Amino acid sequence: MSPLIGPGVDRVDGPAKVRGAATYPTDVTYPDLAHAALVRSTIASGRLIAIDDADARAASGVLAVITHETAAKVKAAPFGLLGPAPPPPLQDDRIHHHGQYVAVVVAETPHEASMAAGLVKVEYERGDPPLLDFDDPRSELEPTPWDTATRRGDVDAGLAEAAVVHEATYTTADNTNNPLGLFATVAAWEGDTLTVHDATQWPAYAQATIAEVLGIAPTAVRVRAPYVGGAFGAGLFVWQHVILAVFASRAVGRPVKLVLSRPQMFTGVGHRPSSVQTIRMGVRRDGELVAIEHVSTNSAALDHASIEPISGATARSYSCANVATSDRQRRLNIAFPGSMRGPGHAQGNFALESAIDELAYELGFDPLEMRLRNFAEVHPQSGLPWSSNALRECYAVGADRFGWSNRNPEVGSMRDGHWKIGYGLAAVSWSWWQVRCQARATITRDGHAEVRSAASDPGTGTRTVMRQLAAERLGLPLDHVRFELGDSDMPWSPASGGSSLTASLGNAVHAACNALLQQLLDLAGDDDRSPLRGYALHDVVATSGRIQLRTDPRCGEHYTDILACHQLNELTAEAEATPPSEEDAELARSGPFAAKFVEVRVDEDLGLIHAARVTTVVDAGRILNEKTARSQILGGTIGGIGQALLEETVTDAGTGRIVNATLGDYLIPVNADTPDNDVVFVGEPDPLTPLGAKGLGEIGLVGIAAAIANGVHHATGRRIRSIPITLDKLL
Ligand code: MOS
Repeated sequence: MSPLIGPGVDRVDGPAKVRGAATYPTDVTYPDLAHAALVRSTIASGRLIAIDDADARAASGVLAVITHETAAKVKAAPFGLLGPAPPPPLQDDRIHHHGQYVAVVVAETPHEASMAAGLVKVEYERGDPPLLDFDDPRSELEPTPWDTATRRGDVDAGLAEAAVVHEATYTTADNTNNPLGLFATVAAWEGDTLTVHDATQWPAYAQATIAEVLGIAPTAVRVRAPYVGGAFGAGLFVWQHVILAVFASRAVGRPVKLVLSRPQMFTGVGHRPSSVQTIRMGVRRDGELVAIEHVSTNSAALDHASIEPISGATARSYSCANVATSDRQRRLNIAFPGSMRGPGHAQGNFALESAIDELAYELGFDPLEMRLRNFAEVHPQSGLPWSSNALRECYAVGADRFGWSNRNPEVGSMRDGHWKIGYGLAAVSWSWWQVRCQARATITRDGHAEVRSAASDPGTGTRTVMRQLAAERLGLPLDHVRFELGDSDMPWSPASGGSSLTASLGNAVHAACNALLQQLLDLAGDDDRSPLRGYALHDVVATSGRIQLRTDPRCGEHYTDILACHQLNELTAEAEATPPSEEDAELARSGPFAAKFVEVRVDEDLGLIHAARVTTVVDAGRILNEKTARSQILGGTIGGIGQALLEETVTDAGTGRIVNATLGDYLIPVNADTPDNDVVFVGEPDPLTPLGAKGLGEIGLVGIAAAIANGVHHATGRRIRSIPITLDKLL
């Protein structure tokens, strides 16, 4: 294996980021740039009666005010990766949630725009009291936009033969993504063509969506996102502020920048919706699971529902003959939900892995033994062998490194001074997919290569890993290869989301490099003097800037010589990679697995809860860059600690206003909340993808909440079925 792949290299864009040279959407500027500011609804339900913008229009520097009365009427956007797109803004007078945009003000400077936004006077007619409560009978229970239900066997029959039945309800709070980079859009019309700089995780989808909404050709829209300051799922949609920036630029005939404030980030770019989940689980005396029923309900907005496959991993997680899962939603007067790292699974795994733990304690089993007892040797739904599965090794390696055998099984028995200590465990089985993706590779006369695809790198390391892959395949040093992304003019890429980009894009990068090597061989084939004449791609290797015969390394040609010989300055090849067909599959596509071990400490006097130590062992197939992969798991773990102990978006029960929409009030983990973090990768390359890599963008977060809740129980004897586990729930 080439040293370029595996242990990894430093982030290739690290120096540019540290020096401030990387251009995030907030950094984009134009000579005649104008600035927009948003006016948001102060009620959660009702209608607009009148908007008086006279004072705003008269204010210093103001160029335009757009309301539902003056905004262009546009079309609805297409489905995204995880559900229907948010509806376009300012289309009518109805108010569906507190913080809904009711006007946008454009001015010469950001300060003038926000001053004038404060002068817009809005008169509302309040409707019925807003729907804000999960238990409000006015909100009907409805299916989620996609059917995510699974079923096998007969749950009631399974429960009837169980020695112990566990039934409980688990709840999870609303959580909000807080990427460091505020979301921003710069829209610039030039005649009838539009350039949009945006914090998107999916430039190609943003391009298609904006074109569809405006009713113009996709080729008239270019979306640029070379750098995104974190997103975690918030960048998967084209949000309403993006369309407003486009409206604003059209209205004033100048480029317009719109930067969300932190409070606006809480209503404008989605959130992980709250859930109520009921689990019924039956087990024989020997620990064998005989029934699992997992039913979830999540909150959704009145005018937008995203997909939360909350029970989506339950059926595949354990060997169990009788399983039924379903996901439902209740629409409320809340801001749009959206994706937040491990959407659905982050909530569902908390319930499933808490319930397994509860049964283990009830039977007197070690929680690890309980999980091994029900290990799914084959995919439990399809019965097919896993394409790769090192979950057993995750358990074994994790238990060993963590010191699980030091655990005293009795709850409340371990302590260190006034700290009660608990060991908690959770497993994760992650679904994963690969999608079609395109890339283009160019080699130049001076022996440098450039590979491009319209992907996004919101801090995950895509730019780095793709450069490694291209350098390895083309046999060039890392500094002779560039990888460019973040531009919808480049070949089509799927989203940086759903833990899917590395495998999908990696295959496309390989395909483009192979196509380029094939073109070079074709050129050599036309050349009587070329030692490569008559050879095929599988006969050669690319190394040290040249193509040479596998069987005789002396026999070969440098790229530079092939190009020079044909009087070419450069050569370009484009390719599309498609995932293997799922039809007639003999293997079940595995996805990554993980086992997570957490040492929880609870202060017996104050109820403070601290995740002191985490060991995460991940099977994500072949690891392409251990350094960036480990960073993904570290960041995910910290996000999981937030979900478990700190993060809760609180909506005022009377008004529907989010009361903690600042970084001062919404708690996310800081260094003091961050544990001693041990990350290990195990497993083998997965055979269902040429690269062998399974995704790992989300598995770092999922499982942490359950492991912590299980640790809290071990430490204190208290079973908390509601996250975040704040100290008031313990006292
Ligand atoms: Mo992620 S929630 O797939 O960006």
